[in-house]
Amino acid sequence: NKDQAWSARFAEPVAELVQRYTASVDFDKRMALVDIQGSLAHAEMLTAQKIISAEDFAAIQKGMAEIRSEIEAGSFVWELALEDVHLNIEARLTKLIGDAGKRLHTGRSRNDQVATDIRLWLRGAIDEIQAELTALRSGLLGLAEKHAETIMPGFTHLQVAQPITFGHHVMAYAEMFARDAERLADCRKRVNRLPLGAAALAGTSYPIDRERVAKTLGFDGVCQNSLDAVSDRDFAIEFCATASLVMTHISRLSEELIIWMSPRVGFVDLPDRFCTGSSIMPQKKNPDVPELARGKTGRVNGNLISLLTLMKGQPLAYNKDNQEDKEPLFDSADTLRDTLRIFADMVPHIQVKADVMRAAALQGFATATDLADYLVKKGLAFRDAHEAVAHAVKACSNKGCDLADLSLADLRAACDLGDKADLIGEDAFKVLTLEGSINSRNHVGGTAPEQVKKAIAAYRKNMK
Ligand code: ARG
Repeated sequence: NKDQAWSARFAEPVAELVQRYTASVDFDKRMALVDIQGSLAHAEMLTAQKIISAEDFAAIQKGMAEIRSEIEAGSFVWELALEDVHLNIEARLTKLIGDAGKRLHTGRSRNDQVATDIRLWLRGAIDEIQAELTALRSGLLGLAEKHAETIMPGFTHLQVAQPITFGHHVMAYAEMFARDAERLADCRKRVNRLPLGAAALAGTSYPIDRERVAKTLGFDGVCQNSLDAVSDRDFAIEFCATASLVMTHISRLSEELIIWMSPRVGFVDLPDRFCTGSSIMPQKKNPDVPELARGKTGRVNGNLISLLTLMKGQPLAYNKDNQEDKEPLFDSADTLRDTLRIFADMVPHIQVKADVMRAAALQGFATATDLADYLVKKGLAFRDAHEAVAHAVKACSNKGCDLADLSLADLRAACDLGDKADLIGEDAFKVLTLEGSINSRNHVGGTAPEQVKKAIAAYRKNMK
């Protein structure tokens, strides 16, 4: 029984189902290139430390180059019997170069090897995702800039609340994704530490140089405790948590796009290439991309819970449980990257129907608060002003008109202010207009177009 690298101490081969049950090669082979990268850095250090010979290192380099081209060409034969990506590559190396291949694993264990591979792989994935996130953020800034003055109703409880600009609304998402980018960059710092040298769990008796390997592989430093280095996957959990937050923001945006695209609302339209039709209802154009993104947020959240549950209760140090870390991690990274790529492509092409937005802002007494604020500036206490405007809103609702549709006399009467009725003058109608309302909210964080444009400029500068 010489199938496995470890089988010499076993009296019988593993059961067929056990072999399939314990194998991970089907999914961890996607770490093949970083596995080779890690092995080469390890071998280079072993050579520099005179633990293996220069001839061995040259042979390892040559063999790994061959293996890399076989993998890239798709001709590499992955064997389930060889369990995982690490043993598959090592077995092939030994087949190609003989004894030198057998010396590669000196001072190393699959435990520190796999932890290194995941970190290298995840670092690459984070960089790709960060680039997609940057593209989406630029798209949002462009859209916000185009619509810094486009008026729409702002909502609370999904009911018309106050007028805002569409640019301001879009910038709320730019804000969320800026925090996500920060979180991702912060998570990368903790991903980018080298576990190699921890060996199985206790370190190794060879005179290794961990800093050298860290430098070769572009890590910022080495993991400081061998037990922790091989066993914890908190860096992967942290990434999945960040991915969940990004998807949560994507999901909120998706929900809004879906509502806005509903013909009953009709605020926006999406290009056909992001939608699909119905096989039965000829009139349909469905917002499939936002709906799927909203749905995929569920699986990304599931991946986070999988990893948290996987880690919970594991004693130090490495346990095979950890082999289950890869599929959820890969899935969150893939889902997030693809979602961001599609949204980065779609967002600049959101077609805004400014006239529909404006008409909606004119309904629902969006400027009622402005009238109350007007009365406060004329000397009324805010609670009294609130009550007066509520009376007026009630009167208008009964009549089926808007506050701005009333004559001055009717507005005074509707506010029911008694001897204070003349606090309301002609100038009250100015604050009842949509433009008057948004322009008056002119402070950091407010919806006035001037502020929105400032925010966009500040973000542009930060992203450079
Ligand atoms: N395939 C394993 C994993 O993903 C590699 C480490 C296995 N180590 C061991 N001692 N069984 O975690």
